[in-house]
Amino acid sequence: MSRQLVAVLGRGVVATRDPIASADDMGLVRGDGCFDAMRVLDRDGVAEVENLAEHLARFARSAATLGIAFDEDGWRSLVADAAQAWPLTPEAVLKLVLTRGAESDPGMPTGFLTITELDLAAMRRARAGIGVRLLGRGYASDAFADAPWLLGGVKLLSYAVNSAAKRMAEGFGDDDALFTSTDGYALEGPTSAVIVRRGDRLLTTPSGATGILDSVTGRQIFARAAGEGVATSHELIAVTDLFDADDESQREFRQRFIPSGLANEILLDVYVRRVSFMPHEHSLNRRLYQAYAEEVRRVDSNHDGVISAAEGDIDAASDGFQDNSRLFLPATSFNRFAVTREINDGLLAPRFAPSQRAWVLQGAIAPVNPAVPASLDRDIDDR
Ligand SMILES: Cc1ncc(COP(=O)(O)O)c(C=O)c1O
Repeated sequence: MSRQLVAVLGRGVVATRDPIASADDMGLVRGDGCFDAMRVLDRDGVAEVENLAEHLARFARSAATLGIAFDEDGWRSLVADAAQAWPLTPEAVLKLVLTRGAESDPGMPTGFLTITELDLAAMRRARAGIGVRLLGRGYASDAFADAPWLLGGVKLLSYAVNSAAKRMAEGFGDDDALFTSTDGYALEGPTSAVIVRRGDRLLTTPSGATGILDSVTGRQIFARAAGEGVATSHELIAVTDLFDADDESQREFRQRFIPSGLANEILLDVYVRRVSFMPHEHSLNRRLYQAYAEEVRRVDSNHDGVISAAEGDIDAASDGFQDNSRLFLPATSFNRFAVTREINDGLLAPRFAPSQRAWVLQGAIAPVNPAVPASLDRDIDDR
């Protein structure tokens, strides 16, 4: 088991298994409280609590929003005592926890901290790069504007949703999740902020109306970047733009299979271009195979026989074209329709494709004129 230290506000460092709260503590039974977390590093034999002032300030803001009394001096001296008592490890996490206290004893908040050794091997793996799964948070990017009861920006104790999202992402084989809004923007991870490099700028999601946490790490990175002349900006980041990261290793990396426009080219090669495409080849199987290989080759820049999302990206160029828009047929070019999401596992949602016919549904079709755009949140290309 990793090493841990526990200290209680008003009592100091206690034995790890000492009781710290009563059974009717509102933090335990309602998640009614807040926390903050930061790293503790071994700096030449002294425990250094990283960015303590910023984390304490955010912790105090969380407590104020919740209307829970905050003893700033008490916390400062508790942290100092705990850091002194900590048997140094290369990296550890310090967690400050404040709850509304026992329901039977109103106005007496519970405060404690833990310092827990971090698993260095896991940290090293994470630093080498991770895969994330986009998971909908279920609200729009401005849901927290003028709605203080939603407690946006407060680092609430109730992290059950965040933990579930991480578990789900891991269940899909990814390392972590990235929450998205219903209007198609990247919000934050379950325990992390999102920063995107676009050209020579760094972008991050604004806090406030989005309800996301104001990240201390994000602020540190932005301050350092500004010091080095790198432009930074807080702005909403469309999920579709995440796939366009400039750093190749940060791009969408899944395979695209055969984009609709390319499938159409293959169809034309095999059946229509009988004079210009392999005029002497009459075997349908061989025409199909060669057409497939030929059309994929035009886009497949690393010659692995597969079109990756990066190679098939609509904004990228291939085969002498300025962009790859020719690879994707507009839905209206199919004299067919498809309905997404009528199966609720989210994995096999059908979409327009030349090989598909139609789904017969019950109910009436209501044609609209002019056409309306598809819903961004449900129909964007993230499946
Ligand atoms: C939901 C959420 N967003 C963002 C962050 C990143 O915040 P910070 O950089 O201050 O640790 C965290 C950290 O735990 C978090 O839980």
